[in-house]
Amino acid sequence: MKIFAALSLLFVLLAVSATSRSITIYEGGNPGQFDFYLFVQQWIYSYCGQQTCIASKEREAFTIHGLWPENSDGSYPSFCKGPSFSSSAIQDLMNQLNYDWPSLTGPNTDFWTHEWSKHGTCSLTGPITNIHDYFAAGLKVYNAYNISSSLADHGIVPSNTQSYSITSITNALINSLGNTPLLQCQNGQLSTVALCITKDLELMDCPALDGWSCSGSTIIPSTD
Ligand SMILES: *[C@@H]1O[C@H](CO)[C@@H](O)[C@H](O)[C@H]1NC(C)=O
Repeated sequence: MKIFAALSLLFVLLAVSATSRSITIYEGGNPGQFDFYLFVQQWIYSYCGQQTCIASKEREAFTIHGLWPENSDGSYPSFCKGPSFSSSAIQDLMNQLNYDWPSLTGPNTDFWTHEWSKHGTCSLTGPITNIHDYFAAGLKVYNAYNISSSLADHGIVPSNTQSYSITSITNALINSLGNTPLLQCQNGQLSTVALCITKDLELMDCPALDGWSCSGSTIIPSTD
């Protein structure tokens, strides 16, 4: 009888530990379970007005922050089950990533490791099958939909004195790219633009999302 009780207890303990192991595995959500991507770019001079940047990285440009799985209700999966970041997987993209997807405040590899762990692991769906696909997708979308040139085509150029209405910026992007973007402003400056991308990596209209709105007019700060 004692042996039976001891075995029962052992069985219960094994069952509990097996359960907690399986919870841990799925804790971060499953890859591919989201509605669309937010492709987020910051305007360097606005971003670097809010924090100390590495001076050599500052230039007049939008650079990539990330390609983020997102749901229409504003929730999103993060830190999904998947391989750990590996620089060797993206060796051939390194020159482009250093220029177009840099950390403005620290080592680029630390930034990419974070973006991959938090967002990339959840993006393993459709055409994105591995680490290389994920970073290549970001670069592809960045090159395909040029925000700076879309704005410049409508006379909207960086300036520390000329402000632009949010409506004119939004309309310029809709007119050039074909779809509605999302904007964020900070201290009267345009800080962030997000494009919405389908799981097949096509541009789509962004739904309204909490935290994404600017009103009135804004500055796109320049070097001088
Ligand atoms: C986007 O357009 C700007 C302004 O025309 C240009 O300087 C920049 O190189 C372009 N970026 C990409 C990724 O093509």
